[in-house]
Amino acid sequence: MPDHSIVTSPVAELLRGRRTIHTFLPELPPRELLLEAIDLARWAPNHGLTEPWHFYLLGKETAQAIARLNAALVSAAHGEAAGLAKLERWLTIPGWLVVTCDNASDPIRAHEDYAACCCAVHNFALYLWSEGVGVKWTTGAVTRDPGFYDLIWVDPHLESVVGLLWYGYPAEIPQTPRKPVAEFLVELP
Ligand SMILES: Cc1cc2nc3c(=O)[nH]c(=O)nc-3n(C[C@H](O)[C@H](O)[C@H](O)COP(=O)(O)O)c2cc1C
Repeated sequence: MPDHSIVTSPVAELLRGRRTIHTFLPELPPRELLLEAIDLARWAPNHGLTEPWHFYLLGKETAQAIARLNAALVSAAHGEAAGLAKLERWLTIPGWLVVTCDNASDPIRAHEDYAACCCAVHNFALYLWSEGVGVKWTTGAVTRDPGFYDLIWVDPHLESVVGLLWYGYPAEIPQTPRKPVAEFLVELP
């Protein structure tokens, strides 16, 4: 099979080059850029135009409260030292956004709405990446904790967290591989 991984159009390079960023520089990207990214996120495909997403752009106070909640959960599970180490790291994360999805009672609708929200998250991440800003999509245990919903003022009966998105200028860009496409592609007659 020809090697398509050498395609070098700007879009191909954006899609291939984006990486999940785990360590950030301290500077917070401009709020205007974030608002642009959120605006573009909602142009994601969504079946039935349900537009099931919500974006919670967190300020320092809420971000720090989430970091403390996470530290408490980690301390309870793995001991105080582990909790403190997490707290220290989380307090260095510059940008915080939570994306939630409306809870649909119909399971097919819920499945499709979640898919749409994932597309929206990726729109958000790709746009920021094109502007030099990295994102980490996290779904750790804290994002399922009732206390997390309280901190973002969301009723878990109405919306579910799709991801906690950290953003900022990358301190380091990891190299993350992919398996060859031949392992995934099935061509049918
Ligand atoms: C739904 C979802 C949840 C994720 N949750 C986490 C997470 O909790 N912690 C983490 O380190 N990375 C998380 N990631 C990021 C993946 O680890 C990352 O996308 C993967 O390692 C591939 O790296 P890349 O994005 O640089 O290609 C998540 C990604 C997705 C799509």
